[in-house]
Amino acid sequence: MFSLRRSFTLNQSRNLFKSSVKMSTNEMKVRSTTASGSQVYESKRAVDEYLLFHYGNPSDLLSYKSGPQSALKFPERCAQICADYTTNNKRALDVGCAVGGSSFELAAHFDEVIGMDFSNHFIDAANTMKKDGKMSFEMLKQGNVFKTCETVLSDKIDRHRCSFHQGDACDLRADLGQFDVILASNLLCRLPQPMGFLERVPSLLSNGGILVLVSPYSWLEEYTPMDKWIGGNSNQDNNDCFETLSRTITSVSKQMELIHREDVPFLIREHERKYQFGVSDCTIWRKN
Ligand SMILES: C[S@@+](CC[C@H](N)C(=O)[O-])C[C@H]1O[C@@H](n2cnc3c(N)ncnc32)[C@H](O)[C@@H]1O
Repeated sequence: MFSLRRSFTLNQSRNLFKSSVKMSTNEMKVRSTTASGSQVYESKRAVDEYLLFHYGNPSDLLSYKSGPQSALKFPERCAQICADYTTNNKRALDVGCAVGGSSFELAAHFDEVIGMDFSNHFIDAANTMKKDGKMSFEMLKQGNVFKTCETVLSDKIDRHRCSFHQGDACDLRADLGQFDVILASNLLCRLPQPMGFLERVPSLLSNGGILVLVSPYSWLEEYTPMDKWIGGNSNQDNNDCFETLSRTITSVSKQMELIHREDVPFLIREHERKYQFGVSDCTIWRKN
């Protein structure tokens, strides 16, 4: 299941996690989860940040009234958008699901949800949330001072509708079947081969099924070689990300049609006075 096409091996990424656990008060290798390359998603720092981002109380995530309140509850808002634009509520795929927050939110609307992510440690955390309905994690306060917290999933969510698997969005398994919704939130610009993913999606959608792409188009060479960026490359003409994405998706499959577009803000807390605030471009593509 694990692809060695990445520049790090499973052992290296496990070591990164182990060493970051040992160094839990001083995780030197991960200064920020913004621009560190994909191996960052195996670190304890990233697991903790994403547990807070996906499951934390809004007041823990953002304790400033002056902050961007509309950026809270990102997983819930992504799942609601999927529910609003689907015509069928049987199967959903959450690609690049991280620790699974949107997958559980999708389970409020869909009979079966598959969450998939490249990071073993994110999938382990999602599976712990599925099994126990809760998990403890650390919130960075300042410097190397952490506060231990616990997150608890609402008992209104039917956790058994969700399953989580490690996998590669650029090389999705052949036996996944077809989906009414494929959600890829903040994933595209973290893939080494975004085209590989976009080319595969139409065959995974049932007729009338939708692809919900949510992306800040934060292209960085740590994640994606520049010649594989979907727009945003000044070496190319017509390089607007949305327009390049539109040309790409409709040329991959004539059956794909843009049916909706909106801005989706999000907020990831790094420590009590530092955040990653982004506004992703949400585009919804229906397979006709
Ligand atoms: C910026 S995070 C977004 C996570 C989540 N979808 C969200 O919106 O909060 C990018 C995610 O993509 C995952 N990822 C990166 N490369 C991947 C790949 N090739 N296949 C599947 N997931 C991948 C990372 O492990 C990480 O969980």
